[in-house]
Amino acid sequence: MTGGRYFLGLDVSTTGAKALLIDEQGQVVGSATSPLTLSMPHPLWSEQNPRDWWAGMVLSIQQVLGASGVPAQSIVAVGLTGQMHGLVMLEENGEVLRPAILWNDQRTGAQCDEIRTRLGKDRLIRITGNDALTGFTAPKILWVQQNEPDIYARARHVLLPKDYIRYRLTGQYGMDRAGGSGTLLFDLKTRTWSAEVLKELGIPIEWMPPTFEGPAITSRVSAEAAAATGLAAGTPVVAGGGDQAAGAVGVGAVEPGVVSVVLGTSGVVFATTSGPLVEPEGRLHAFCHAVPDRWHFMGVMLSAAGSFQWYRDTLAPDVSFDTLTTEAETVPPGSEGLLFLPYLTGERTPYPDPLARGAWIGLTARHTRAHLTRSVLEGVAFGLKDSFTLIQEAGLGDIRRVHVSGGGAKSALWKQILADVFNVELVTVNTTEGAAYGAALLAGVGAGCWTSVEAACAETIQVTGRVAPDARRAALYAEYYPQYRALYPALTGTFTNLAALAAKI
Ligand code: XUL
Repeated sequence: MTGGRYFLGLDVSTTGAKALLIDEQGQVVGSATSPLTLSMPHPLWSEQNPRDWWAGMVLSIQQVLGASGVPAQSIVAVGLTGQMHGLVMLEENGEVLRPAILWNDQRTGAQCDEIRTRLGKDRLIRITGNDALTGFTAPKILWVQQNEPDIYARARHVLLPKDYIRYRLTGQYGMDRAGGSGTLLFDLKTRTWSAEVLKELGIPIEWMPPTFEGPAITSRVSAEAAAATGLAAGTPVVAGGGDQAAGAVGVGAVEPGVVSVVLGTSGVVFATTSGPLVEPEGRLHAFCHAVPDRWHFMGVMLSAAGSFQWYRDTLAPDVSFDTLTTEAETVPPGSEGLLFLPYLTGERTPYPDPLARGAWIGLTARHTRAHLTRSVLEGVAFGLKDSFTLIQEAGLGDIRRVHVSGGGAKSALWKQILADVFNVELVTVNTTEGAAYGAALLAGVGAGCWTSVEAACAETIQVTGRVAPDARRAALYAEYYPQYRALYPALTGTFTNLAALAAKI
């Protein structure tokens, strides 16, 4: 295949290093993913070696170039995306100092308390838009300072996973502003590092790289990286965005009033805002978007489709997802008084509580597997409604459109339950490549193929389906929802006690 211009999106997620090539019409012309593994050397820890990301990405780029036949010179820009919040520490010469501490690592509870004490929770939220959460980058830096002083003493650069790929690809340090705002060290309003927060936490501002808007060109592919990957030396690399912001670009959720719900392993409710709005108690994340001059709110449920996966693998390992959801269709909404609490891996929104636990409430001998299945789908929908409600209450104005995507959105029943529980119409779109697609579009904007991110999305992303709520089912779910809402406050003491007991074994 020759002729035309192409854009490459590179996504370093927890599970794989993916390279996705698109053309000027937004058509996917090649995709390759090299799997990555996670290391959990201690309870609560979650780490990966940045060198593995680079090795995986080199393979994926080589495969995409080889299989698509697109000449390297026709790839006019590269965009980066990846897992957010992960801490990569490098020494002066750019060598990796220790394994990266990832977004789902939970070791930093004490450091989060310390950050709240040192800055004051209100001040922290006012500057950064966010409360201190174990997943964020700042508490991880403090953890290294306190637990690995020798490594801390040698540190000179802090990067996020995607920006380590940028460093290896171009030899330059740089970061996108969506990613920067997920570090807890960023000033949300001015879209740059907060000298105030960095000073208060004793982290040298010189360690932080320059930051750029999503479509801005940060640097160019080096001769060394060109030799390794097959890309052309000098190819521009744009900032890109953290996986949530780039994923929103990838489904066209780039304008205020458009909300994106992602039913992946974790569940995300994402709303673009035209200003740096903040949820006063920090229950929603407030980050910069990968779109210049846009911000976003986000609620994250840690086990969304992950709950259904756990349920199937544990209680019905030989049964397909399709069979389970077909059975669940026969059960009335509300699963005849059965509620499922989906906090199987703790929770982030609206309860940032690593000790929150899952539960079934209301079980009777009448309930069948079909009821259990339906209650899991409904429990996840209620949990996502918690984030959706916070977003509705946060003063966004009209919500014009709600997109649904992710693996769970393949189920017609689950989409219908979501539409009924939220009581809004949901739309699906033609793109399914997630954050890598968004990164490729950002590259296209950076290369001048589209005049703006909004124009790129308008030209490439179309609505392919609509799911309208049913008034009767929506009314019934509106009566179930307060019962669901009451469960966590009632059970939180029990969860804490059970976690302490479980730790005794
Ligand atoms: C976002 C978040 C995850 C990670 C990993 O806040 O924690 O989406 O980026 O995908």
